[in-house]
Amino acid sequence: MNIMNVDYSTKIPNNVNLSEDRQVLKALEGWHPGYMDWWSDMGPEGFQQSLVYLRTAYSVDPRGWAKFDYVKMPDYRWGILLAPQEENRVIPFGENFGKPAWQEVPGEHRATLRRLIVIQGDTEPASVEQQRHLGKTAPSLYDLRNLFQVNVEEGRHLWAMVYLLQKYFGRDGREEADELLRRRSGDADSPRMLGAFNEATPDWLSFFMFTYFTDRDGKMQLHSLAQSGFDPLSRTCRFMLTEEAHHMFVGETGISRVVQRTCEAMRAAGIGDPSDIAKVRGLGVVDLPTLQKKLNLHYSLSLDLFGSEVSTNAANAFNAGIKGRYHETQIKDDHRLQNDTYPVLKLVNGAIKRVDEPALTALNMRLRDDYTQDCVKGLLRWNKIISMAGYDFKLALPNVAFHRQIGEFRDIHATPDGVLIDDATWSKRKREWLPSTDDGDFIASLMTPVTEAGEFAPWISPPKVGIDNKPGDFEYVKIET
Ligand SMILES: [Fe+2]
Ligand SMILES: [Fe+2]
Repeated sequence: MNIMNVDYSTKIPNNVNLSEDRQVLKALEGWHPGYMDWWSDMGPEGFQQSLVYLRTAYSVDPRGWAKFDYVKMPDYRWGILLAPQEENRVIPFGENFGKPAWQEVPGEHRATLRRLIVIQGDTEPASVEQQRHLGKTAPSLYDLRNLFQVNVEEGRHLWAMVYLLQKYFGRDGREEADELLRRRSGDADSPRMLGAFNEATPDWLSFFMFTYFTDRDGKMQLHSLAQSGFDPLSRTCRFMLTEEAHHMFVGETGISRVVQRTCEAMRAAGIGDPSDIAKVRGLGVVDLPTLQKKLNLHYSLSLDLFGSEVSTNAANAFNAGIKGRYHETQIKDDHRLQNDTYPVLKLVNGAIKRVDEPALTALNMRLRDDYTQDCVKGLLRWNKIISMAGYDFKLALPNVAFHRQIGEFRDIHATPDGVLIDDATWSKRKREWLPSTDDGDFIASLMTPVTEAGEFAPWISPPKVGIDNKPGDFEYVKIET
């Protein structure tokens, strides 16, 4: 079989020759009904009978792998898609640097690998759960379609991780696969594994911030796992990254369109000061200071996903050849890091300082720095829209010490500028920096659905181009209730 193309003749589309891998096929077929139950319980609320203009992967060729068509979400073909195997691939880092990549799980690293796969797997359904109510307030059919595209692909990413668990981890793997369907985002008794994936996504601004900032954490994690010496994990992650790019596109352009619309409305109304919140809100658009607060929240929650700045788990996973660095193969060093250091932001005598730590234990910090750099690109674009409109206002990433629950700064409070403050000041001022109930109520008041093809809610601009180059009035979702 051609590894590039996906076999749609089996119940579970795949390019891993499932029809000849009876045991795994059976395990996956056994898991399928539970997945469909989960999708109907926890997937998008409503719209399950609507025709949605979705892309489906038919190949893993990076030059063209998707085809677009109307699909009812429950009929989406969730499948197992791995990037083609690279011939003679070697482990690109760690103590096993240069040895052939593993095609089976090495016994001594089994527990670590399983843990990493389960954590990654857990985030995928979690975001679908977090976003399940958003369909009923979509600002356009275009946005509604993008939401559902993200949702079905996160569902597929769950399949991707479940395949690895079931194929390579025997009974433990099957149990973990079942657990992935059992946990629920925000549930008091059995929550999802990571903090940001238990937060609510109450409105579309949150959705855009989530896909920009939190999906980007996913991108960084997938990049590091795509370097893995465990070749099936590497190949799985490589293909997931091609899908992930669209999720971040949805976030970046979503926020761009909000900023665009706000600036246009302020100009049309002759508003000179973007911080005149009451006046701007009076126009029925999102004021930029509130946008900044949403950004502060989602960025800081996403930073927590990188774990502690200094971590022996991260060092062990790297040494073992399981989880590499962002763009590992392009880095010019010995890929072992035994004698290297990396500057880590730490709290030293009540001040935030850079301290050199062994590079191996500082890998989380390094990945987080790469993430921050990647985040900046969007801010530059958004700020350009603001300055082009003639406004002196800049969106900015808050300091890494701001609003943290994990790592070096979890026990202190800091302003978005990185000034350390005491508890009382934090309590008094945090609503200047994070969305308040009032802010939430205001945003909620804007969230009225628009379901007419080619129409957009008044708080967001239309996109510059359509999906699959469709014209502006294309009916991306044929709503059936
Ligand atoms: Fe994902
Ligand atoms: Fe994603």
